[in-house]
Amino acid sequence: TRTPVNVTVTGAAGQIGYALLFRIASGHLLGADVPVRLRLLEIPQGLKAAEGTAMELDDCAFPLLQGIEITDDPNVGFDGANVALLVGARPRTKGMERGDLLEANGGIFKPQGKAINDHAADDIKVLVVGNPANTNALIAQAAAPDVPAERFTAMTRLDHNRALSQLAKKTGAQVSDIKKLTIWGNHSATQYPDIFHAEIAGKNAAEVVGDEQWLADDFIPTVAKRGAAIIEARGASSAASAANAAIDHVHTWVNGTAEGNWTSMGIPSDGSYGVPEGLISSFPVTTKNGTYEIVQGLDINEFSRARIDASVQELAEERDAVRALGLI
Ligand code: NAI
Repeated sequence: TRTPVNVTVTGAAGQIGYALLFRIASGHLLGADVPVRLRLLEIPQGLKAAEGTAMELDDCAFPLLQGIEITDDPNVGFDGANVALLVGARPRTKGMERGDLLEANGGIFKPQGKAINDHAADDIKVLVVGNPANTNALIAQAAAPDVPAERFTAMTRLDHNRALSQLAKKTGAQVSDIKKLTIWGNHSATQYPDIFHAEIAGKNAAEVVGDEQWLADDFIPTVAKRGAAIIEARGASSAASAANAAIDHVHTWVNGTAEGNWTSMGIPSDGSYGVPEGLISSFPVTTKNGTYEIVQGLDINEFSRARIDASVQELAEERDAVRALGLI
């Protein structure tokens, strides 16, 4: 029998937490043969609801679930953690400036980064879901100098999945026929979903589409603004699809990308593709044995260059803002 993996979820009592925990416990995060122990980290006001979710987890009698612990202390929540899903964040409220938002989230992600640094397992892998995800990941990473920097990642897999689905709809292909799509940059409205290297049933996707106007005026804004469209339709932000993407992100990181395909992850830049080193930006990556590599050597055309640069510029501004606030 395998040793259980400790998975910590912050914001466990929230919408995404509710859609996420049951799939972790049923084996979708790591594999159908990997036992898990869950740690639910909440703020004091969220503890009671987290206990309710834990009762329901009990009631599922998941064979792989070997324990649930609930806490509002990050030092306890991240103790021995192998995987940390940082979902809880301070949402933007009316009238809030970007600086206020970054500062409020600094108050969450800095202490969590420190607790990860001091208490997590040596093989800790961190996925930041809570927005602004890329910069929150940067803050947590900076507070964890003893953890290898590349273990801090931010979620752009939901954007990736949204792009796959939109492209499949446009071309009449199945999602499973589409490979090598890329989300570049920030998980925000400046993100750039790139189909110039994508393949649909082996053919170049941009050529199959053959319509740059559609790319610029339809596809890119639809993917980038999908979050707002979901709020408009559902009256609440994406939760099940966000949870699904978090599952996909970690599953792919741990279990590897398929031969001939890649995925998109927000990861610390090594300077590839002109993205300043250290920024946590989305790239095309392949994964294997729990590690990832940026796909190298892609030709970046002018259309793509301008859009990647704009999103990376926004990331650099966010980094400068949190640096000025003393958060990194
Ligand atoms: P929610 O408001 O339903 O839940 C958030 C939970 O986090 C609450 O239960 C709250 O008590 C908890 N929380 C707040 N501060 C905490 C702290 N310091 N420690 C532990 N828990 C804390 O929000 P929802 O819908 O679950 O979304 C969570 C985050 O995910 C938001 O920031 C949202 O913007 C983001 N998101 C990111 C996506 C992505 O693609 N990267 C997609 C969708 C949402």
